Amino acid sequence: MSDFYALVPAAGFGARMGNELPKQYLDLAGRPMIWHALSTLCANSNIKTVFVVLAPEDEYFARYDWSHCKDKLAPLYCGGKTRAESVENGLLASELEPDDWVLVHDAARPCLSAHLLARMIAELRDDPVGGILAVPVADTLKRADAQQRIAHTEPREGLWQAQTPQMFRAGLLAEALARSSNITDDAGAIEALGLQPKLVASDTSNFKVTYPQDIVLAELLLQQGK
Ligand code: C5P
Repeated sequence: MSDFYALVPAAGFGARMGNELPKQYLDLAGRPMIWHALSTLCANSNIKTVFVVLAPEDEYFARYDWSHCKDKLAPLYCGGKTRAESVENGLLASELEPDDWVLVHDAARPCLSAHLLARMIAELRDDPVGGILAVPVADTLKRADAQQRIAHTEPREGLWQAQTPQMFRAGLLAEALARSSNITDDAGAIEALGLQPKLVASDTSNFKVTYPQDIVLAELLLQQGK
């Protein structure tokens, strides 16, 4: 039987937040942002170890108290220039078995709920490929021209917004990332191999904190217990 692990790339700077402190350490409901997702992942009884991929020069992570995660948390100071590189480096350093499941989750999605995490593991644990949390697109989508005018309306039927966690076998994901370039998520690398990851229905509470105004919404959701 294969084991479940989580890997959280947290080596970015979060330039769009306009802050000196890297985004994953910004204060969110009295804790650094990354604290929330790491705590949720560590609390899942299926997950054996939660690897956190940090920038080699990260000087923040070790300042916080992680004792509530017990011995489940494993920081790896091997982040790369891109998110994909950080995930790839982290997978190599983690020394997982090729058949182990790994759930890659962004530090910038603090509102991941315990029940969505449990549901995704239950839905994918026997899947031959793996899959991702995602939500069907709700808004009408417009394609812009060079003048920022609407060129046309994109049909949204069958379109989903990808979230994380993204859950794949460690060996397959490492191979996919090593072969791919210009991908924005892990599933993209798997797709490039000709495989079709499963979409597991999520909800919008698991959104990515990207802009300063997102902090307020994330705090509200965390205060309500998501
Ligand atoms: O900046 P963005 O929100 O797209 O980053 C998504 C996740 O990837 C964040 O958790 C960020 O810390 C991580 N990342 C990384 N290494 C990079 C760039 C981003 O681990 N070089």
